[in-house]
Amino acid sequence: MTTRTPSTDTAMPRFGIGTWRMGEQSSAAQAEIALITAAIERGVTLIDTAEMYGDGGAERVIARAIANAPAAREKLFIVSKVYPHNASRNGTIAACERSLKRLGADYLDCYLLHWPGEHPIAETVHAFETLKAQGKIRAWGVSNFDLADMQQLITTPNGNNVATNQVLYNLSCRGVEFSLLSWQRDHAISTMAYSPIAQAELVKSSKLIAIASDIGATPAQVAMAWLLTQPDVIVIPKTTHLARLEENLGALNLTLDASTLAALDSAFPKPSKRTPLAML
Ligand SMILES: NC(=O)c1ccc[n+]([C@@H]2O[C@H](COP(=O)([O-])OP(=O)(O)OC[C@H]3O[C@@H](n4cnc5c(N)ncnc54)[C@H](OP(=O)(O)O)[C@@H]3O)[C@@H](O)[C@H]2O)c1
Repeated sequence: MTTRTPSTDTAMPRFGIGTWRMGEQSSAAQAEIALITAAIERGVTLIDTAEMYGDGGAERVIARAIANAPAAREKLFIVSKVYPHNASRNGTIAACERSLKRLGADYLDCYLLHWPGEHPIAETVHAFETLKAQGKIRAWGVSNFDLADMQQLITTPNGNNVATNQVLYNLSCRGVEFSLLSWQRDHAISTMAYSPIAQAELVKSSKLIAIASDIGATPAQVAMAWLLTQPDVIVIPKTTHLARLEENLGALNLTLDASTLAALDSAFPKPSKRTPLAML
């Protein structure tokens, strides 16, 4: 078994925590803050959020957790996202400034366009580059971009500075493997796999339960260890339960052997044809 930490292997940490559905109810805030604080204490540095989550509430919860946490801001890797309808040249800058204010942060480590929208991508990229020059973001990327969107993006001025594409990717949703993943690999663009356990659907899969039980791991751990076999894939599971956080972190120390990988390919086949990018 190899030992990995949540923050090695690529320029971006390999393992982060998601925050969708956080910041929606004030009654849940203490548990959410405790979870994020515990994750940081366990070495998790990447926190994924968006202005959309809890209508800014998730960013506020993260700010409260960071205020509690022992890790210095420079050790964290905060990702947020701009709504497509805000992603004009000026709107992107204003949205980023609002996110920074809610997060109580001076900069974002990576700022993503949440999904392709009505504003020309060249305007959004221009704004991202402006924010970078101003020191308000360190890098930028996109989310829910299919191959054609990515191909168009890299032909726009400075479009080839895109650092990552955050997409729906898990054992039960492998469409990105047909062409997008290899294209991104060829262009040194990392892939952030969202919903890595299919919003907990995978932990109920009898096929995955059997494979995981054979190697003494849990289905969630196997699902994420499988994604992590690819060095440029980042996983960002979300949980509000400490025991599940501990369980999910176990994926970092799980190496899947050839027979387990073959069993996974048989239970969850690779795509045999191109399909439009799936998204939530
Ligand atoms: N860019 C995009 O468009 C986009 C879309 C979706 C998600 N995301 C990002 O990706 C993150 C992760 O995706 P996701 O939240 O959709 O799905 P996910 O991480 O695949 O699954 C989250 C769900 O699984 C449960 N869970 C977590 N660990 C578990 C475990 N070990 N055993 C059993 N259940 C477990 C959680 O419940 P509890 O919280 O109750 O533990 C939650 O209901 C999001 O939070 C968000 O940051 C981005």
